[in-house]
Amino acid sequence: MENLEALAFAMGAFFSFMLWRVLYSCWVLPIRAYRKLAINGFSGPPPSFPLGNTNEMKKKKKISKKVDESCSAVSNDIHSSAFPYFAQWQKSYGKVFMYWLGTEPFLYISDPEFLKKISSGVMGKSWGKPTVFKNDRKPMFGGGLVMAEGDDWVRHRHVITPAFSPANLKAMSSMMVETTTSMLDRWTKLINSGNPEIEVEGEIISTAGEIIAKTSFGMNFENGRTVFKKLRAMQVALFKSNRYVGVPFSKYLCFGQNLEAKRLGKDIDALLLKIIEDKKRSMAENRGGGGKEHQNLLGVLLEGKHVDGDEKGEKLSTRELVDECKTFFFGGHETTALAITWSLLMLAVHPMWQSELREEIKQVIGDGNIDATMLVGLKKMGWVMSEVLRLYPTAPNVQRQVRGDIHVDKDSVIPDGTNMWIDVVSMHHDRDFWGEDVNEFKPERFKEDSLYGGCQHKMGYLPFGFGGRMCVGRNLSTMEYKIVMSLILTRFSFSLSPNYTHLPSIMLSLRPMQGLPLIMKPL
Ligand code: HEM
Ligand SMILES: *[C@@H]1O[C@H](CO)[C@@H](O)[C@H](O)[C@H]1NC(C)=O
Ligand SMILES: *[C@@H]1O[C@H](CO)[C@@H](O)[C@H](O)[C@H]1NC(C)=O
Repeated sequence: MENLEALAFAMGAFFSFMLWRVLYSCWVLPIRAYRKLAINGFSGPPPSFPLGNTNEMKKKKKISKKVDESCSAVSNDIHSSAFPYFAQWQKSYGKVFMYWLGTEPFLYISDPEFLKKISSGVMGKSWGKPTVFKNDRKPMFGGGLVMAEGDDWVRHRHVITPAFSPANLKAMSSMMVETTTSMLDRWTKLINSGNPEIEVEGEIISTAGEIIAKTSFGMNFENGRTVFKKLRAMQVALFKSNRYVGVPFSKYLCFGQNLEAKRLGKDIDALLLKIIEDKKRSMAENRGGGGKEHQNLLGVLLEGKHVDGDEKGEKLSTRELVDECKTFFFGGHETTALAITWSLLMLAVHPMWQSELREEIKQVIGDGNIDATMLVGLKKMGWVMSEVLRLYPTAPNVQRQVRGDIHVDKDSVIPDGTNMWIDVVSMHHDRDFWGEDVNEFKPERFKEDSLYGGCQHKMGYLPFGFGGRMCVGRNLSTMEYKIVMSLILTRFSFSLSPNYTHLPSIMLSLRPMQGLPLIMKPL
């Protein structure tokens, strides 16, 4: 009898404790965060519990879709179609305000001066990355560089940066040429069989995926192709349907989907581990011999003796290396592929720039093979890339989480733990900093001012992020961009298909919702 009572009591205590914990983290903590931000003068759309502003964000998305489908002209004024809810809230609350993803408070920032003020005193290693996204995207990035923080981030960044050295990048260029050429051969076949319309977005994303997989871990290795397929399947599983990031227990809402992503994640990890072990073994066997082996980042990292099972210090463990391979894949292929895709759209509607670039390619590269050292000479192509990343920033936002209070003014503080969402699309389309022609495609902006394109504020142009955490892959993506664009432009001229619908929208990256069909003509 006594035992039963004790058991009942223990169980009662346990459930009360669990209930308290749930209430505390989903209710008390967010309210505290809300008050703290409100005291410091940050307001925004009123949130509801437990969805925050999520429902409004979903609703605004649907409405904007309908409106856009009726107009077919290509307008570069895309902020209100990419982020309709932010565009709406900006009207009421200005360029800095607070909104809620579920029970997570986010500080929205689209004012470069405010961003400069709060970020100037914070080192790369002192920034956090939002915990909600870390959890949500764990199967994709794990603890890789995009998500790492503090000393861990310093160590990873230090080991990884040299892998992107000009010499290492150069060694990858012929692989990029080969992979792209086989895509273009396929296009030629399609065109010759009477199909001049090619949906280039899908084509380029899969080619860029192949390039980045070869670049990161080498697809020639036995399991590379399988890893590649599973990585793509995982991205689809994670992002295909409605999600409620930040809403408590939402992972149980999308249970099947999460399970699928998790399962794929496990498979991928196992395959990558095997690739790494195989590679280690074959490198140990070929010591002093090889050289051609490490035309990929994994090979460079292994070669540099930066990797070892359990040693501490300036090294990555095999487990960490797996996460970095995935991070390169997800951070690197879609962003670059979409930069190329949006460029093809801009060039299709501005044929004058097609001829300008063709002329430049003829002068710089001639009729011979592309050599990586020539690519710096493609200046105009560089302006086009910068201008396209201004109008269509394929990484449309930058995220941070505050670690330790940040003092804005004498009496305003951004409290520890606040998430920050920096709206790059908005800043790149801000008349106040770019002038009246802000929405026009004008690559020549970057002629005089190659870094900022004449933007009135140095923090107003952020296609690759800012500060110490700026993208490590930007030189790699520039090289890939120039190689792929040069090959396309020398073999084809192209115009927009009447089937194209201009719907720039966000699915992690900024992409044309219904692809990009172009009419291709062999030259
Ligand atoms: C046009 C192509 C690309 C764009 C627009 C882009 C954009 C970005 C942005 C906005 C960030 C966040 C920076 C910040 O938080 O301040 C970032 C970080 C990163 N990117 Fe890229 N990226 C591109 C290509 C690549 C490629 C090709 C790779 C690798 C192969 C790559 C790997 C990474 C990594 C590892 C980080 C995390 C850096 C850190 O936190 O220290 N990216 N990128
Ligand atoms: C537009 O799409 C339709 C249906 O897919 C196709 O039959 C047609 O040929 C396309 N138009 C052009 C100009 O390619
Ligand atoms: C990219 O290349 C430039 C010039 O070669 C160099 O100054 C810069 O540090 C490189 N950036 C990265 C992220 O490797």
